[in-house]
Parts: sequence; C-alpha cells; structure tokens
Amino acid sequence: MIRSHGELVTEQFAQQAQLFANAPVLHAAAALDPLVQAAKPQPTDMILDVACGPGTVVAAFAPHVAHAAGLDATDAMIRQARTLAARQSLDHVSWYVGDVYALPFDDGAFDIVTCRFAFHHFENPAAALREMLRVCKSGGRVVVCDAVVSDDPAKAAAFNAMERLRDPSTVAFRTSAYFVQTFADAGLPVPTITRYQLPVEMEALLATSFPLDDNRDAVRALLRAAVPDDAIGARVRDADGQIHFEYAVAIFAAMNC
Ligand SMILES: C[S@@+](CC[C@H](N)C(=O)[O-])C[C@H]1O[C@@H](n2cnc3c(N)ncnc32)[C@H](O)[C@@H]1O
Repeated sequence: MIRSHGELVTEQFAQQAQLFANAPVLHAAAALDPLVQAAKPQPTDMILDVACGPGTVVAAFAPHVAHAAGLDATDAMIRQARTLAARQSLDHVSWYVGDVYALPFDDGAFDIVTCRFAFHHFENPAAALREMLRVCKSGGRVVVCDAVVSDDPAKAAAFNAMERLRDPSTVAFRTSAYFVQTFADAGLPVPTITRYQLPVEMEALLATSFPLDDNRDAVRALLRAAVPDDAIGARVRDADGQIHFEYAVAIFAAMNC
C-alpha cells in the first residue's frame, strides 16, 4: 500500500507519542532555555508552536506569555500535550490538530511563532515558513529549531540515508545555509543562530525508534560503518562497543518585518 507523506508522519508519531512525551533529553532546560531566550517572550505575548508534538515547547513558554497554543498533525501527540498541560495546571494554553501548511488562525494572530525538531519532516519548508509568517504579527518573532547536517554533501547524504531508515517520515535534515536562505527567501532579516549539540547513544535511540520495515540492524550497520571517518558528519564514535553520535542543533530566530 502506498502511503502519502502525511500518513507516514501521523503513523510514525502516533507510535512515538508516548516515548516522545517522556524523553528527558527533549524536556531538559539545556534544550528549551536557548529556544525560549531566542524568542524574547513578553508577558503580553500570544505564542503559537507548530508541530508541537507532546506540548513540551508550549509548556516551556507558558510561564513567560499571556497565552500559548500548540498545533500538531498527530492526534496522539495532542492527547499527550493535553495530559502535560493538566499535570502542570496550565490554564492559558490551547491545542489544535492541524497542518502547518494551512494554519486555522487569522493573519497576524500571534506575537511569536515557533517550530522545534519538525522541519526535517516537511516536504516544503518554504511553504511552512510562509504560513508561520502569515499568522505572525509584523514586528513579531519567528523561531525555527532543528538539527542541521554537515556542509559536506556526501556526509549530509549519508546522515539523511541513516535517518530515513531510522524514521521513514524524515524528508531531509538540511544545512544551516539552507535555513538562512529559506529565511531570506521569505523576506526575513538574517536570523540570529544559537547552536548546541544533542548527544545520543545508538541503542537508546533505537529503543525509541520505529525504523523502515523494523530493520534496526540496517541502522546499526550504517552507524558502525560511519565510525572510522565520521562519514555522517555527526561526531560518530565507538566507545567500548557503544556507538555514540551527536545531532547539531541550530535555532534560527528573526523578526517578522
Ligand atoms: C520530532 S516531533 C517534534 C515535536 C515537538 N516539536 C518537540 O520538539 O518536542 C515532529 C512533530 O511534527 C509533527 N508534524 C509533522 N508534519 C506536520 C505537519 N505538516 N503539520 C503539523 N505537524 C506536523 C508530527 O506529528 C510530530 O509531532
């Protein structure tokens, strides 16, 4: 059966929803604080996080803004987000099941529009960014956070081949330069860029993954083969038989003018 990309996304993330909601590394201050700081939230701000997953980013912004909304294509993710909001007694948040390419909001409805770790699932990042800008006020802030790939095309291609096996809903991780150009093409000023490394161990990552045809060994083989010359450009290394690598995360922030 041939599935559309949208079906691949919702199938993949329905499986991942609970694991995602409970992954400490995604909820850590080290991952969330730079994103919140890049957006410069004000107490009167309305914020929207698109492809919000289990609501982690919305909950991080909630103490700093008047209202925080999250939207995601996967119903199971939004259910996790509602659970998180109830657990944290967040009463100034709202949740939507929807598509980043057709946001159900008026033009200029938000002061800040964010998106974390989702652009690599988008087939048309430029259209997604345009739609984020449409619902952002003039003078508001747009913040996109994702892992980026090596500037070496061979390493970038090898990294993406591994990631598409590990998570078939991945379209492509892009370079920093790609994001800067996409911001420019959308009429945004040059973004500020904040970077951090997200280290992972292969077996821990695979335990939370749903690879193509459940072929975990294919992912293992690609990662092990990449060790001698870091063929995926992700600081991959063998530490006493355990394979470690790092996602290079970048946060791109710009004012919508
Ligand atoms: C890797 S998760 C990231 C979740 C969350 N942003 C975070 O950082 O914890 C990617 C999310 O993107 C969502 N997604 C992918 N394509 C989407 C689309 N076109 N519209 C809305 N959500 C989408 C998926 O459902 C999934 O929840």
